[in-house]
Amino acid sequence: MANIAVLTSGGDSPGMNAAVLSVARNAAYYGMSLIGIKHGYNGLLGYSDNPEDSYTKLNLDTLLDIADLPGTYLRTARCREFLDPAVREKAARTLKQLDVKGLVVIGGDGSFQGAMRLCELGIPCIGIPGTIDNDLSYTEATLGYDTAVNVCVDAVRAIRATSRSHDRPHVVEVMGRNCGDIALTTAVSTGAEIVVVPEMKWSVDEVANRLNKLISIGNTRATIVVAEGCWASMKPFDVYKYLLPYGKQVWENEPMTSNRFASVLKRKCGMVEVRDTVVGYVQRGATPTARDSAFAFEAGAMAVQLLKDGIGNQVIGVKNARTFHMPIEKALQANRPFNKKLYKLVNSL
Ligand code: ADP
Ligand code: F6P
Repeated sequence: MANIAVLTSGGDSPGMNAAVLSVARNAAYYGMSLIGIKHGYNGLLGYSDNPEDSYTKLNLDTLLDIADLPGTYLRTARCREFLDPAVREKAARTLKQLDVKGLVVIGGDGSFQGAMRLCELGIPCIGIPGTIDNDLSYTEATLGYDTAVNVCVDAVRAIRATSRSHDRPHVVEVMGRNCGDIALTTAVSTGAEIVVVPEMKWSVDEVANRLNKLISIGNTRATIVVAEGCWASMKPFDVYKYLLPYGKQVWENEPMTSNRFASVLKRKCGMVEVRDTVVGYVQRGATPTARDSAFAFEAGAMAVQLLKDGIGNQVIGVKNARTFHMPIEKALQANRPFNKKLYKLVNSL
């Protein structure tokens, strides 16, 4: 096998560059050359007249300089057109024209769907789970998740310090799309008193009651960690009707947000202030932790080894602290239940 290629797709995640470097080092070790596809699957679609905008030979020397950097050197993107079979055929043709014998796709479940389709078109693909969300059930951890959690833990610790000083409860919103893992692990790691996630149905009154209880036993500075997707599992609450009499700027049919939730809790719990912070993109753009960098190293090595052995259609994951691989299709069907026991423990102590 002469050529392999690598791309990053979907939201960027800390450790993507380290994984690309690992792929490059392992490819070099086996005497393969490596092509970096830019902007996710877009780089396979010939959008630019200048091929350098779409793909490039990866130079180990350049990559050595970016391994520890957050973000992704190859750029990433979402590519809606890739849902179209004709577009995917074009992508497969590009890879064949480049004499690419295998492709490493670093991304989340959407990117893996794309990789599975490319396998069907004769391109052996290996997926490395690059997403902060930890929403891939087949693996205990995705690349970037540990970093994102550590960013959130630092944020919550800092917020708890000021909350303590002012006796103010605080709503902290973290990322994770439809997955509550970042929120739950952050809550557990910081001693946050309340956590709200998309996997569990919940109501505003439940949280207000819990906060009132905490206040009644002297905890006037609780932290409420909310996953960004939690509003979807909230029992209906008319935030407009509730906040309007208090003179809050709010419009009919506006959705609940962390800011509005904090305002509602302030009123329902009779606090002078309940503040809110959205941790946001610092979770995605952070420098990878040792755990994520180490996983990137192992995953890159395993991906190249598999392609060298002529094996495709696999994704790489972690189980019991060991890196493993399994078929993409089976991985996408996996269903790891949310840790309800831990969730209940956080919300009851
Ligand atoms: P992630 O990979 O982080 O889950 P997305 O869900 O946005 O991010 O998916 C990234 C890209 O993967 C999409 O923009 C698209 O190019 C490709 N993709 C997603 N779903 C499919 C699908 N069902 N078939 C083919 N390609 C897909
Ligand atoms: O999938 C990673 C992620 O950061 C999610 O946590 C978040 O919902 C989403 O990407 C945001 O994506 P974008 O930056 O494209 O809006």
